[in-house]
Amino acid sequence: MRTDRKRRILVTSALPYANGPIHLGHVLEAIQTDVYVRFQKAAGNECYFFCADDTHGTPIMLAARKEGIEPEALIDRVRQEHHRDLTGFLVEYDNYYTTNSEENRILSEEIYLSLKEKGHIAEREIEQAYCEHDKMFLPDRFIKGTCPNCGSPDQYGDSCEVCGATYSPKDLKNSHCALCGTPPVSKRSKHIFFKLGDFGKFLSSWVDDETHVAEGVRKKLQEWFGAGLQDWDISRDGPYFGFEIPGETGKYFYVWLDAPIGYMASSLNFFKGDRIKFDSFWKDESAEIAHFIGKDILYFHTLFWPATLNGGGYRSPSLVHVHGFITVNGEKMSKSRGTFIRAEDYLKHLDPEHLRFYLSGKLGSGMDDLDLSFEDYTAKVNSDLVGNFVNLVSRVSTSILDKLNRTLGELPSEGRVVLQELRASEEKIREWYESRNYARVMRECSRLGDVANKYVNDLAPWSQIKEDPEKARGTVTVALNAARILAIYLFPVVPKISSKVYALLGLKGLPSFSDLSSDLERSKVAPYEMITKRVEEKAIQIMIEENKTPTAQTQTAAPTPNSKAEGVATLGEISIEDLGKVELRVGRIDEAGPVEGADKLVQVKLNLGSLGNKNVFAGIKAAYDPESLVGLKVVAVTNLKPRKMKFGLSEAMLLAAGEGESLTLFVPHRDAQPGDRLK
Ligand code: 2FM
Ligand code: ZN
Repeated sequence: MRTDRKRRILVTSALPYANGPIHLGHVLEAIQTDVYVRFQKAAGNECYFFCADDTHGTPIMLAARKEGIEPEALIDRVRQEHHRDLTGFLVEYDNYYTTNSEENRILSEEIYLSLKEKGHIAEREIEQAYCEHDKMFLPDRFIKGTCPNCGSPDQYGDSCEVCGATYSPKDLKNSHCALCGTPPVSKRSKHIFFKLGDFGKFLSSWVDDETHVAEGVRKKLQEWFGAGLQDWDISRDGPYFGFEIPGETGKYFYVWLDAPIGYMASSLNFFKGDRIKFDSFWKDESAEIAHFIGKDILYFHTLFWPATLNGGGYRSPSLVHVHGFITVNGEKMSKSRGTFIRAEDYLKHLDPEHLRFYLSGKLGSGMDDLDLSFEDYTAKVNSDLVGNFVNLVSRVSTSILDKLNRTLGELPSEGRVVLQELRASEEKIREWYESRNYARVMRECSRLGDVANKYVNDLAPWSQIKEDPEKARGTVTVALNAARILAIYLFPVVPKISSKVYALLGLKGLPSFSDLSSDLERSKVAPYEMITKRVEEKAIQIMIEENKTPTAQTQTAAPTPNSKAEGVATLGEISIEDLGKVELRVGRIDEAGPVEGADKLVQVKLNLGSLGNKNVFAGIKAAYDPESLVGLKVVAVTNLKPRKMKFGLSEAMLLAAGEGESLTLFVPHRDAQPGDRLK
């Protein structure tokens, strides 16, 4: 769609949930969106990229509780980590905000009240699992038990990871609260529903417009229409980390109600509260709203979200682009195989632009899954990026240009033909970016790189320079003009590499499609600097090996003071003599209680038999109720120098493995006696 009118486009990618690190799945989406945004900007459109962390809900409330901090502190920290990792892949947001903001609260309330006023809200009582011990309703994921279908123990309340069956928590056998183990009771409470069925006609005409969603998505949606649109439960009972529902007490918006409104809030924050500017996107059909999401959250974005916007008095999205999942080396990302790759780990070892280049080469407009095969990645980056595009620049930019006073000449006529061929692809490339068919862009650029490299090979400027330096200058001028065109085409994908080519050519500003009409002649070329390196297979191996270690999997949680199993791999070797200095003894816990002001700690009186008692502060509260510890025999380091803590002196350390609620204390043989030394 080429028009001279400057389009106004607001683009989003799905808001990462604030309870885990950014991994390659998030990165795939962020890159896909960023390429689209960079293309729109490079094409001269007014385009904004808004995102945020999705911060509400039970898992975040409980994660914060486990760390002994307020949810606000947790989400602030995680947002910074998420932003650091995503921008590490050169993803350039206009705003990366949070759903826990005043703007989001206000917009969520306004939209809800508008839905209510128009009669789209219903109330009724429902029955749900409730934990009497934790005093909370349990979301399906917080109920565990035995699968009613295959009998596998320790399965979630909604589905079995072993046989894949889905069921209602009521059908789970031996169900218990995942937090404390208590069997839940059934309890009734009032819930608030959004009457999605009121929007059936509107949704079906929105979906029928083929510019809004891809064909595969439309088919899926039509299936859902056939099954009927059910009321959507948008409330949750407290305790819940989220926004309280206006006019209700102790009831909160379900996280999925305010999460997409977070797109709007991020933009409102960027527009500094200017509702006119805000409405010029969210109410004005002459602007465009494009959401990039994964296929797992299709329902929310193509049914609930357009209906919420419509009922709230806003326009509906002009595009919901849906991508598939990422697999690594042909399989689902796996922690044990080292292929559950966190963004942070990738960035430690590999180049972000190599991933942008590789993934773009595989991204199409549909929702097929995409495989990151590291063998293929290495081959593609080394041949198509380094061996083709970068080589076109580097082979003429060092000694040959040094001999030519680093100055370009005039374009020879046969060279103009080559450049014409490159320019002729502009329209196709624009269309492919527009339709998110990046794989086609990459294939075309590769072909054009081959054309330009062949021209250089055929004329061999390294030979021309010896006999006819001016001929060599002409060839170099063609090569670098071709590189400039490719730098413009590839800028949305590899912005840093393209910018380096621009800087080498002495060009100011960012590569832009409007630069395509001009040629570069008689200008100076800067000294050559490395543009990008080849992929080293060793770096990939190290990353995967490192990822397999338990330390790499413990993610962002702070280590508990006594989870000594963690970190062993990184401590280096110690001698047997060193080990001999550690005194390990059996202790019996005679008393255990909570520590005021320290949510993670338990205070323990450890009976060491003839050696007397020791006072210990142990960070094990997430895994053990203090009362349940009394009488338990444990293993402790008893010659550790006493540590003065805020709450008193800690005179020993209990040994444990794991962390958080899965932490397990080391327990000696049942016959061991307090004070026994372990050898
Ligand atoms: O699936 C997820 O990770 C959600 N946090 C995505 C939310 S997208 C939008 F609706 F906020
Ligand atoms: Zn419980």
